[in-house]
Order: sequence, then structure tokens, then C-alpha cells
Amino acid sequence: MKEHIDPSNLPQHIAVIMDGNGRWAKRQGAARVFGHRNAIKAVREVTEGCAELGVKFLTLYAFSTENWNRPKFEVDALMQLLVHTIRGEIKTLMDNNVRLATIGNTESLPVDCQHELAEAMRETEQNTGLTLVLALSYSGRWEILEAVRQISVEVRDGRLTPGEIDEQVFGHFLSTKGIPDPELMIRTSGEMRISNFLLWQLAYSELYMPDVLWPDFRRKHLYEAILSYQQRERRFGKTSEQLVK
Ligand code: IPE
Ligand code: IPE
Ligand code: MG
Repeated sequence: MKEHIDPSNLPQHIAVIMDGNGRWAKRQGAARVFGHRNAIKAVREVTEGCAELGVKFLTLYAFSTENWNRPKFEVDALMQLLVHTIRGEIKTLMDNNVRLATIGNTESLPVDCQHELAEAMRETEQNTGLTLVLALSYSGRWEILEAVRQISVEVRDGRLTPGEIDEQVFGHFLSTKGIPDPELMIRTSGEMRISNFLLWQLAYSELYMPDVLWPDFRRKHLYEAILSYQQRERRFGKTSEQLVK
């Protein structure tokens, strides 16, 4: 299936809402946390799969602003898992020339998480292949409000006029600054919603929402998503006839 992918029409940026861990665990009579633990293999597969194909950016929604409202033991387990996973996956990142980055309110994460992330980002900062962006304590509305606050300060202090605020300027104040908008957004588990992910950046993304639960997601699902993307006609408001092939 990989051989059917057109390398000249690869998305530069793929964003993923990794959903369905809890249901995956529940289906086998296990606790939700068991699903989170079994999600790591899927993370490794998409990361390696994207790195091998030459995708430049992969953003994984790992923990939303709203996820803080889950039961404390689940939040704690997720944070612990994050620390262990980052520590354990640095070799995978190095082997695949992957640079790690984060978006979101990472200051709200437990300090050991913050340290682990900082260390992993430092170790991988020279890597030149895929950039893996982890969205942690992230939500689109949080990010947009942060941008508005920063822009207000710029205007107040006379460094920016209201008329100068266009899409490019606004994008400069988002945490995804310098990263192209995702051409493709995948959400697993069959849920058909955005759940406060990359609200600005997903404006024209192609959406792909397979039924597979995140812990079962493998390279072949990634390839299926990319193949589906490559069959779409991206019109950006124009008519089909206007598009030069
Ligand atoms: C996604 O799986 C992981 C996180 C949100 C951290 P869920 O935990 O949301 O699993 P479901 O949706 O309840 O099955
Ligand atoms: C979205 O999944 C957040 C992450 C995958 C990190 P949720 O499972 O939290 O989304 P909702 O609440 O069902 O929309
Ligand atoms: Mg969910």
C-alpha cells in the first residue's frame, strides 16, 4: 500500500487526535489506563511511518485543556505515562532523526514532565527530519486567546496597528508559528468532532476519521489516510474547473 502513495503529493503536516484508548480497554474488560499504556505502539508507528515517508510535521493531540477535568487518577496516570514514554522513546526519536516540540500550556504540567520534555527537546534539537509536535494541555481556544492577549500588548505599546493584523501576523502569535497548517487531520475512534484542536490551523484541512481505536492504529492506517488525502480535490473556495492540474 505504501508504494501507492505519491511522494510528490505528501502532506507536509499531519495532525492526529489520538482517540479511543478508553473504549479499547473497556472492550477487553480492562481499566481505561490500560488503553493509554497500549497507545504508545501506535504513537511509535505513526512517528516512524511519517519520518520514513518524509512528512515534515506530525502533531499529536495527547492531552487537551478539557482533559484536566478527568478523574484525578486518570490524569495522574497519563502524566506518569508521559514522563516514562518520553524517557523511553528518545532513542526512537534519535534513530529516526526526529525533533521533538510541544504546543500548549506546558507550564501547567507536573514539573517532572516539564523537565523530561525539556531534556528530550534539547537532545533532539539538531535532528533535521520529522518534527514531532506534542499538543499537551492544549486547546485551540486557549491558543487563540493567548495570541489575542499578546497582540493586544503589541498594539497597546505601539509596535503594531490594528490594520496590520492579518492572517500572517495572527499566525505569528500562535504556538504553531513557523509550521504550515496541517493538510490532513486524522481522528481515530469514529468520533466526528474537532474537540478544540488546532481551530485556526484546521480551516482548510482534509479530515479523515476512521473507526479504528487509537491503540490499534498502525502504519497501514496512516497509509490509508494519506491515500485518501491524495484522492481529494482541494479547491480552497474555487471551482473545480479553475484548478490547474
Ligand atoms: C484518547 O483516548 C486519549 C486521551 C484523551 C488522553 P480516550 O481516553 O479519550 O478514550 P475514549 O474516547 O474514552 O475511548
Ligand atoms: C480529544 O479527545 C483530546 C485528545 C485526544 C487528547 P477526547 O476524548 O478528550 O475528546 P471528547 O471529549 O470526546 O470530545
Ligand atoms: Mg476520547
